[in-house]
Amino acid sequence: MNTEQSLSSLLPKSWYNLVPELDFKIPKPLHPVEERLASVEDFNWLWSSEALRIEFLQGEYASNPWIDIPQPVLEAYSQYRPTQLYRARGLEKHIGTRAEIYLKREDQNPAGSHKLNTALPQAFYAKSDKGVTTLVTDTGAGQWGSALSMASSRFGLATKVFMTRKSYDDKPYRRFMMRMTGAEVYPSPSSITRLGRQLLEQDPDQPGSLGIGMSEAIELVRSSQDHRLALGCMSYYAVLHQTVIGIETKMQLEALSRRPTYLLGCVGGGSNFAGFIGPFVKDKVGGSNMTFVACEPENIATLTSGDYRYDWADYGKHTPRISMYTLGHDFQPPKIHSGGLRYHGKTPVLSALVKNKIVATKTVSQPSVFEAGQILLKTEGILPAPESSHAIKAALDIASNANAQDVIVVCLSGHGYLDLKGYADELSLE
Ligand SMILES: Cc1ncc(COP(=O)(O)O)c(C=O)c1O
Repeated sequence: MNTEQSLSSLLPKSWYNLVPELDFKIPKPLHPVEERLASVEDFNWLWSSEALRIEFLQGEYASNPWIDIPQPVLEAYSQYRPTQLYRARGLEKHIGTRAEIYLKREDQNPAGSHKLNTALPQAFYAKSDKGVTTLVTDTGAGQWGSALSMASSRFGLATKVFMTRKSYDDKPYRRFMMRMTGAEVYPSPSSITRLGRQLLEQDPDQPGSLGIGMSEAIELVRSSQDHRLALGCMSYYAVLHQTVIGIETKMQLEALSRRPTYLLGCVGGGSNFAGFIGPFVKDKVGGSNMTFVACEPENIATLTSGDYRYDWADYGKHTPRISMYTLGHDFQPPKIHSGGLRYHGKTPVLSALVKNKIVATKTVSQPSVFEAGQILLKTEGILPAPESSHAIKAALDIASNANAQDVIVVCLSGHGYLDLKGYADELSLE
């Protein structure tokens, strides 16, 4: 077998559909305002038809644990997948741990993060719907917006992105990347929607939130028949697509004859982490000694101290009400540098895994996150996204007290080369 053949044998041909495999039920989505279940018909103006089928677990999604990846998406994946499972020996040495630490390198993906794994199928499915020309979305740090813009341009769609104003101002380079791949990018709140104008009138310095950006995106989709909404983190379809991360990790660990004892990832909406641990959940429930740790900022600690209840995914209450851990759809997040973790809710499947005590949570402070990122740069030459550094910090803590047989695996969700301003501010670099 040549290298190309052996890599392609590790490229998953299916996504793992976790929900039908769980031995508990996730409460179904409710209509945004009426006291009844939400239905596909309520939202066929908003999402592409396949995204809707996934979200509402229709057809094969109701029961089939393995969903074939369409050929055009597989071809796109094969340009960068499987991603490397990297043994961080320099980090192990630095901590003086007896455990092994591995990083699943989603930071090496085009566009710089795991987000492309779901952007590609979302663009492919939207393009397959007759008459759809444009995908609209919200983005925090710009990782999702730039991945979607890249994927849309591959499949011949236009992209419109509402970028939270704080990140729009602080992170111009991702904005430039989006524009280079053809997207229109608006700071959110923006002056092009009714909601945006109203919020700016109340406060011209309103920094924005992912919930506000999502409401603006929905408002635009509602007024344009050929536009559809794409979501990078909250949706179940994003989680489904991100299971390529976990499937590959499992195969790669098996090839090394290793069993993971800790799987860690950061959580914004929850998609990279849920996709990473999803394929391992059955093993844990079946008795394997494995700890899943969802890492979040201490001042946006949705899973650790939010309420588990029905809430809207967006600020303006347009989405179905979904059962999740939430800080409230109108939560105004503090201005932290990890723009992708400023979201008020966590995707229902991950929320349910936490509620059922299958996933543990950990909060980390902003200064410690940036120090952890700096340690990874010094020891391994890898600069993680501030979001991903939350998981690195948690891994450092766990590894410091770990046993020799522990295998700690971190989902390194993205790189931080366009987040250097955040690092400079936090580490007081001149
Ligand atoms: C690098 C990176 N990691 C993690 C996240 C959080 O998203 P999720 O929890 O859906 O993976 C983001 C979101 O923008 C991100 O850019």
